[in-house]
Amino acid sequence: MTSSLTVTDNRTGTTYEIPIEHGAIRATGLRTIRTGPDDFGLLSYDPAFMNTASTISQITEIDGDRGILRYRGYPIEELAQHSTYLEVAHLLLHGELPTLAQMDAWIYDITHHTWIHENVKKFMDGFHHDAHPMGMLVSTVAALSTFYPEAKDGVHPETRRLQMIRLIAKMPTLAAFAYRHSLGLPYNYPDNELSYTGNFLNMLFKTTEAKYHPQATLERALEVLFIIHADHEQNCSTNAVRAVGSSQVDPYCAVAAGVAALYGPLHGGANEEVLRMLAEIGSKERIPAFIKGVKDGKAKLMGFGHRVYKNYDPRAKIIKRMADEVFEVTRPSALLPVALELERIALEDEYFVSRKLYPNVDFYSGLIYQAMGFPVEMFPVLFAIARTSGWLAQWQEMRGDPEQKIARPRQLYLGPSQRPYLEIGRRDETSGPAR
Ligand code: CMC
Repeated sequence: MTSSLTVTDNRTGTTYEIPIEHGAIRATGLRTIRTGPDDFGLLSYDPAFMNTASTISQITEIDGDRGILRYRGYPIEELAQHSTYLEVAHLLLHGELPTLAQMDAWIYDITHHTWIHENVKKFMDGFHHDAHPMGMLVSTVAALSTFYPEAKDGVHPETRRLQMIRLIAKMPTLAAFAYRHSLGLPYNYPDNELSYTGNFLNMLFKTTEAKYHPQATLERALEVLFIIHADHEQNCSTNAVRAVGSSQVDPYCAVAAGVAALYGPLHGGANEEVLRMLAEIGSKERIPAFIKGVKDGKAKLMGFGHRVYKNYDPRAKIIKRMADEVFEVTRPSALLPVALELERIALEDEYFVSRKLYPNVDFYSGLIYQAMGFPVEMFPVLFAIARTSGWLAQWQEMRGDPEQKIARPRQLYLGPSQRPYLEIGRRDETSGPAR
């Protein structure tokens, strides 16, 4: 079998052969298809990258039709059951699960970079008391780049490694400080004796006790939530990190771009929207009317649908199972029965079935976060902490990939062609945008 594509350009009658590799043609291969010497060559038009692979990657594999997610080959279900977030971060960044000695060194390195410069607190104090913590996180992550000017050197592995350790270590500290600021509470400093998630809970929730002891079920639940959010190949925020990072800016600014992308309601903000939606529905009796509204295009069923998964999101399955454990130690969620019934009805409805719309990771995660005591504004922040290791693994891969250059898409220009400038009094008063 010849691995190539033969295409005939009907404008000229010329036939071209374009090689196929790994199930793809190179988009630049289309450039040879031209109508004449002045023609730039054929472009592929792909708004929202619906059918464009922007990179070759060895980090995360998703099979959307079969509902499969694997980090470096390991199924997400096995990692969620047996691993820790820091072990998964090591796996994503280094390609392999750590040995005992490597794991000890990795935990030591992360734990000893959790503190932030005291000046960070000063500009955090400058935010309004009701500032959204994602806005604070975007800004403070970017601001870290001013504290570590050596981070601009993206070339030397040791310098790169140090920035990646700093980012993974400091994200929970920044996030917890943003949360404490919003409540007008004093900041809690990291406790090096606690686990990554235990320490995060300590920085968030410690009050007057001499030593904070995280509740074991909730500490583990957060660990699992961090594991399943750690990477998801070329999603919107990862694409932002890669695109911004391709300008060779330092990783703090590249990750800040990822946090900004994650802030949007269609990405990391979706679980916040799910809770609002469930609260608005309020009771099981009102579900059919809500579903009708969705089908009439009046609303979206938040927490449903995915660009890649056309099957049940494997992360949603893990979260749904975990919800029972969490609700055993917290107050049961009043909205859980509404969510379960909404899912049941939607999964039987022709509209959702025919479009292959299934619950995604955000459908149940908000309920768990809420039960753990997080305000909705913190939900995307939790996502950002977890996704930092994935962003960095993707950033590192991009910086080391000889095929990657500064990301710069093409466009199809369909605006006015050349026209002469008109003095202001000579312009047609009836044209132009309405006021
Ligand atoms: N509710 C109702 N209809 C939907 C939904 C939904 N949640 N999602 C997609 N559809 C419909 C959509 O209207 C379209 O219908 P039609 O063919 O009649 O025009 C069809 O399904 C295909 O949808 P699409 O908009 O082409 O799909 P997309 O790949 O562009 O969008 C999505 C993916 C996740 C943005 C979208 O499903 C959505 O907005 N979901 C709700 C928000 C959400 O839960 N986001 C979290 C995503 S998972 C976490 C993450 O990775 O950040």
